[in-house]
Amino acid sequence: MAEPILRTEGLGKRFGGLVAVSDVSLDLHVGEVHVVIGPNGAGKTTLTNLLSGDLPPSSGRVLFGGRDIAGCASDLISRLGIGRSYQKTNIFLPFTVFENARLAAQSRTPQALKVFRRAADYPEINRRADAALAAAGLTHRAGRVAATLSHGEQRQLEIAMCLATQPRVLLLDEPLAGMGPHESQRMVELIKKLTADHAIMLIEHDMDAVFALAHRLTVMVNGEVLESGTPEQVRSSPAVQLAYLGGEELLHD
Ligand SMILES: Nc1ncnc2c1ncn2[C@@H]1O[C@H](COP(=O)(O)OP(=O)(O)O)[C@@H](O)[C@H]1O
Ligand SMILES: [Mg+2]
Repeated sequence: MAEPILRTEGLGKRFGGLVAVSDVSLDLHVGEVHVVIGPNGAGKTTLTNLLSGDLPPSSGRVLFGGRDIAGCASDLISRLGIGRSYQKTNIFLPFTVFENARLAAQSRTPQALKVFRRAADYPEINRRADAALAAAGLTHRAGRVAATLSHGEQRQLEIAMCLATQPRVLLLDEPLAGMGPHESQRMVELIKKLTADHAIMLIEHDMDAVFALAHRLTVMVNGEVLESGTPEQVRSSPAVQLAYLGGEELLHD
């Protein structure tokens, strides 16, 4: 098995007396979707925040390309090649789809905050924005104001904004939330397509999507990893069956 592009070792996060994430060790590989499931409050979003630099861990390591990036700032982590989407959408609604993608592409350049940019930078930024919209299937919406997109297209735009930063790792926190069956199916196809060139960590509740996409599956409960392995290993785990007892779909898929 090739080296993982990202590995966590004993990762933990406390909020005062509350242990939100405890001793989590997992690997992400390019070409694979690692799905993290678990009930609300299990620590899934907090784990994402630790990997993206939105929160510093209380303990443990985050190794990316062999370097420990635990506690690095989110803008540095983004520039190193780890992109994320948020559980609540994070797009600029009054701006066009293209402008949203271009802002994301700009954030990747080292002088993102400079008011006067070298003119030569613009074609490259525009090219990256165009490529990200194409990869997310939104080229035909480029000129539309983001607020006028459907919910599903807004989530696609968020993925496009992530792609505009040219990440190798994608952290996707419930990208199917609030979607109907048709939009969900389109997002599942998009994630499948992106798997070829990215290592993806996906947090998801929809079990059809989970089993359609997962190469590896980790179940979190109370901040801890209850089980981790191939989808088949996890599905047949007695600990998981016990935790999900009471008619959860995991057992009946
Ligand atoms: N910024 C924060 N401050 C204090 N507690 C938090 C914070 N973020 C999350 N928590 C708590 O950490 C636990 C895990 O939350 P979260 O990571 O959002 O779970 P999940 O995404 O699995 O639903 C919950 O008990 C939540 O209330
Ligand atoms: Mg969450």
